[in-house]
Amino acid sequence: MTELDGKARATARANIALAKYWGKADVALNLPAVPSISLTLDGLVTRTSVRFDRRLESDVVELDGRPATAKEAARVVELLDRVRAAAKASTRAKVVSKNRFPTAAGLASSASGFAALAAAASHAAGLGWGLRKVSSEARRSSASAARSIYGGFAELPAGKKRANGRWDGFLPAKALHGPDHWDLRLVVAETVRGPKKVGSTEGMERSRTTSPYYDAWVAEAPIWADALRAALRRRDLPGVGEAMERSTLAFHTCAITAHPSILYWQAPTVAVLHAVRELREARGLGCWATMDAGPHVKVLCAAEDARKIRAALKKVEGVTGTLVCKPGAGIEVA
Ligand code: DP6
Repeated sequence: MTELDGKARATARANIALAKYWGKADVALNLPAVPSISLTLDGLVTRTSVRFDRRLESDVVELDGRPATAKEAARVVELLDRVRAAAKASTRAKVVSKNRFPTAAGLASSASGFAALAAAASHAAGLGWGLRKVSSEARRSSASAARSIYGGFAELPAGKKRANGRWDGFLPAKALHGPDHWDLRLVVAETVRGPKKVGSTEGMERSRTTSPYYDAWVAEAPIWADALRAALRRRDLPGVGEAMERSTLAFHTCAITAHPSILYWQAPTVAVLHAVRELREARGLGCWATMDAGPHVKVLCAAEDARKIRAALKKVEGVTGTLVCKPGAGIEVA
């Protein structure tokens, strides 16, 4: 056993799925059942430092200035244990993580959180992992985190089996295009504050085991991911927008038809969806909506339309805040 005494700090940004991940091919390895394509966002930042210290008897985890809850700490320790196993060490670590997310973001920080943690912990342990390895290990903790390793547009493929029929535990995301590929905007309409009621991990498993539409979703999702990837390459906004909306509505259909039903939408969520259609159909503005495991709506549009769209969304009843995000950079380690 080696003793570790290194430290490192990493910065990662949130990402939003344009083609959605929902469902696991293998729960233990956390392999997604479908491919997903994301946009990494500027301005929604998690900064995490990891310091290995032989004097510590157990890992110490601090999130946003408070001790982590037992549940949060367990997920952090699980990743640290994988890093320690790779380094053949048992030294405990102090982890300090801070989110710089504007309150109106209404976005989850698990993607940027586990991306920053995987990068900082492996660097502090002196493992010299490349981006692909860091992405795969972040994915094991939270699959969406694999995509935050890369800036701009990234893809996480579905889990694959090896020739021997076993699942391949190595699955990183890959970069599709850098942040400069396309100057898009994502207008976030925050609708209801508060933590989500059913976490994505639980929601996915319930959808897989009880929704009659789960198999249809898994069959169709790669088709939308293909359409989205091609439209992204040629910077075709209606093409990306339509594939994104179809992917979003299909995954929510799985969640809604799970038993007990998982309904992430609130009344203002639906009101924003109607407002987006109205902006598109009556005002000819190119904008398309997506929602994750929560009630907020994120609207994709061209940079020049973002101001008008934000102003329109602010007026929708029940919208508590708005935010405009640009494409952002990938992981940074110091
Ligand atoms: C709806 O990455 O949070 O945001 O792998 O169980 O941690 P786990 O799930 P997570 O799921 C994200 C689901 C989503 C869609 C997406 O980001 O692709």
